[in-house]
Amino acid sequence: MASLLPRATKRLRLSPPSGFVCHDCRRAFGSSVCQSQQQQPAPSQHVSQSEKTTHFGFETVAEELKASRVRTVFSSVAANYDTMNDLMSLGIHRLWKDHFVRSLNPGIRPASTASSPQATPGQTILDIAGGTGDIALRLLDHATTINHDPRTNVIISDINPEMLAEGRKRFATSPYYSTSTNRRVSFLEANAEDLSAIVSNSIDLYTVAFGIRNFTHKQVALQEAFRVLKPGGVFACLEFTPRLSNPLMNGIYKRWSFGAIPLIGQVVAADRESYQYLVESIERFPSQSEFAGMIEEAGFMVPGGERGVEGELESGWEDLSLGIAAIHKGVKPVSR
Ligand SMILES: C[S@@+](CC[C@H](N)C(=O)[O-])C[C@H]1O[C@@H](n2cnc3c(N)ncnc32)[C@H](O)[C@@H]1O
Repeated sequence: MASLLPRATKRLRLSPPSGFVCHDCRRAFGSSVCQSQQQQPAPSQHVSQSEKTTHFGFETVAEELKASRVRTVFSSVAANYDTMNDLMSLGIHRLWKDHFVRSLNPGIRPASTASSPQATPGQTILDIAGGTGDIALRLLDHATTINHDPRTNVIISDINPEMLAEGRKRFATSPYYSTSTNRRVSFLEANAEDLSAIVSNSIDLYTVAFGIRNFTHKQVALQEAFRVLKPGGVFACLEFTPRLSNPLMNGIYKRWSFGAIPLIGQVVAADRESYQYLVESIERFPSQSEFAGMIEEAGFMVPGGERGVEGELESGWEDLSLGIAAIHKGVKPVSR
């Protein structure tokens, strides 16, 4: 991985990959993330004071560098991505994705359509940061086998051409792409923050799984989601959370993720640094209530969202596996 990064952007490590001793405060951490890591880290040497900065894992980089750094990570992991996902999550990502898709129930139900189901066009689904197509395949399988809907189609969009190439390979042999007359999947290389290739109010369902934490401007991406969705359309996100509510379980989980995942990346994919970024980026993602607030700020209604005494959203998401990951949804209001 080091050779894939230009020398000028080589990472200034703010957190050690092993031993759990923070270089900033010299404290060991295990049960929770080091306090100094929860604050914005000091800018890296290659970021000038006047530049707008953001985080890239635990590193601070100029905003305009982040997308290309993220692209480099995913170009590097693309070929091993699916195998690594199974190893890193012990296969649990499959259960989360299955549950995510089932909860969305994609496809038009014949019983709910007009007298002639043949005439209904099916849903148009946009799977953002769709990568190798894990979510898209499940969406199409569900629409077809559960809802008997042969028309619903998915646009897989990703910033990274190598991830999309893996997706194309996977779909080449599937019934959804193999016939040129009824292709139900298409591929779009795009940054989620600029979906100008997609017409406003044209999408029924917008999904993003394990992608949004990598975006530089998450609020901009949410606004783009709002723009492309039809009134009544649904935004749905499956993402890791920065910490579990149970401190003991959080400590065990962080030990696993910071200790084992970069190591598995090193042994299996000869790429420790990309996998180090992947675990660090989880720490930088907003909490469930903060993220629900961001979805609302983009204009969505958050189903089940209730406010606490301080006015923050206290519910409106679904925690998975003790809160290691969470599903957030938003509905674009019909009249606006
Ligand atoms: C962890 S993978 C998730 C892939 C897939 N959704 C899944 O669940 O298996 C994250 C994906 O986000 C993509 N990505 C990162 N930043 C992006 C951006 N700004 N716009 C679109 N895609 C982005 C990466 O290229 C990568 O394919």
